Amino acid sequence: MGVSFTWLGHSAFALDIDGHPILIDPFLTGNPLGAASPDQLPAEVILLSHAHGDHVGDTIAIAKRTGAQVLCNFEMGNWLMAQGVNNVMQGNTGGSYDCGFMRVKWTIAHHSAALPDGSYGGNPNGFVITTQSGKRLYFAGDTGLFMDMQLIGDERIDVAFLPVGDLFTMGPEDSLKAIGYVRPRVVVPMHYNTFPGIAINVVEWANRVNSVTNAVPVVLDPGGTYTLP
Ligand code: NI
Ligand code: MN
Repeated sequence: MGVSFTWLGHSAFALDIDGHPILIDPFLTGNPLGAASPDQLPAEVILLSHAHGDHVGDTIAIAKRTGAQVLCNFEMGNWLMAQGVNNVMQGNTGGSYDCGFMRVKWTIAHHSAALPDGSYGGNPNGFVITTQSGKRLYFAGDTGLFMDMQLIGDERIDVAFLPVGDLFTMGPEDSLKAIGYVRPRVVVPMHYNTFPGIAINVVEWANRVNSVTNAVPVVLDPGGTYTLP
């Protein structure tokens, strides 16, 4: 029991929450850093932050194979159901849903969203996950820095997953401010080094996190796992 997570490359994570397998933004096919096969990953719940292809990824195939419940916004939910994904829970910014073993809240994210076929994708989101034992995880999705991250920080965040790759999301410098607002115990970088446009020096980033914030940076290799102490 407890919380552990595996980075699958880009913004894709496999989480184990008290024995329940969760996937977030499972973009594996076509992901140069993709560290798992979509044919084998277990999933009870899939969280989708927004409609872009590098986040929706292999959701349809995994949801159909596993029967996992997909938590996403209203527009993505309609699109998934039209493609035969039946177990969908649609939410929207500020709302939350209790999966039994965890509660998931949709947060704001400053970004854009269109589905892979060009359909309207609704608003992008992040998520705050609260486990039954009170552990709290913030997955920011794709976003720029925003000051309301302070409100998320007021919820006492154990782990923050933040994009750091710049260009499409905040970059390393703004992520340091985000860490100051969110105040997590542990911070995990994502959405970097997948493509040349979002390449960063992550060792330098981790050194900066250590010197200017109170958070512990956890930099995983693709496929690497971390267990919360
Ligand atoms: Ni995006
Ligand atoms: Mn993205």
